[in-house]
Amino acid sequence: MPLLSVIDLHTRYATRAGVTHAVRGVSFDIAAGETVGLVGESGCGKSTLGKTLLQLVPATSGRVLLDGVDLGALKPGPLRALRPRVQMIFQDAFASLNPRRSVRDTLETILRVHGVSSARERLRQVALMIDRVGLPLSALGRYPHEFSGGQRQRIGIARALLLRPDLVVCDEPVSALDVSIQAQILNLLVDLKREFGLAYLFISHDLAVVRYLADRVMVMQAGQIVENAPQEQLWNSPVHPYTRALIAAEPAPAGRARVA
Ligand SMILES: Nc1ncnc2c1ncn2[C@@H]1O[C@H](COP(=O)(O)OP(=O)(O)O)[C@@H](O)[C@H]1O
Ligand SMILES: [Mg+2]
Repeated sequence: MPLLSVIDLHTRYATRAGVTHAVRGVSFDIAAGETVGLVGESGCGKSTLGKTLLQLVPATSGRVLLDGVDLGALKPGPLRALRPRVQMIFQDAFASLNPRRSVRDTLETILRVHGVSSARERLRQVALMIDRVGLPLSALGRYPHEFSGGQRQRIGIARALLLRPDLVVCDEPVSALDVSIQAQILNLLVDLKREFGLAYLFISHDLAVVRYLADRVMVMQAGQIVENAPQEQLWNSPVHPYTRALIAAEPAPAGRARVA
């Protein structure tokens, strides 16, 4: 059984300007431990799809199954219990951190809310994770504005991994970072995946990033997944014209930053 199954998922936004049908009938699976890249141009619905998986945005229709359990059919209690298993890392780590809380406070609160009642145990787990993402323990007493973009993303990663998820949706996690920092964060994500046995849905508009770490790649266009193939197959023999156009539009390797 796949870790995650998405079946005919639709997401619509209703605004004063009208309705945007951002995700239009998407179906796919993610296996435990698998890294699936999701590529497509800005506005095609990648972030909406990611947020719908976490139920940060409600699905209009369709199903999201985690280990065969339909998340949309769960009552609030059981849903809360499953929520930690799928986490998200955002492009803008600063916006997703509370500026008035120290790193220790932010991370400990997550553990407290999820039932880790011993303060000593919370601190132990927080210290372990902050070390694991490559930050010094002194980071715990500091506030988000005191960190660089790369360090903030490390905090965002620590927060996402604290509850030991099975799947992490990484939404353009390095797009806002300097090129020199991007490779460090990508390498960290690869290491953590191995250590914790994570599956990733890795969203990026940058094909080079997806090339570096995906087992399989899905191509999204105007709310739909138009191609879904193992990475070698996708690059070597793309089937859909849009996939071919994306690959053709990719800058030449010489002009871009090398990863790793
Ligand atoms: N909160 C929102 N309210 C209304 N429309 C939105 C919202 N978020 C995204 N959209 C629209 O949904 C479509 C898909 O956006 P998004 O999922 O952010 O795409 P991507 O991540 O691929 O750039 C776009 O047309 C965008 O304008
Ligand atoms: Mg996006």
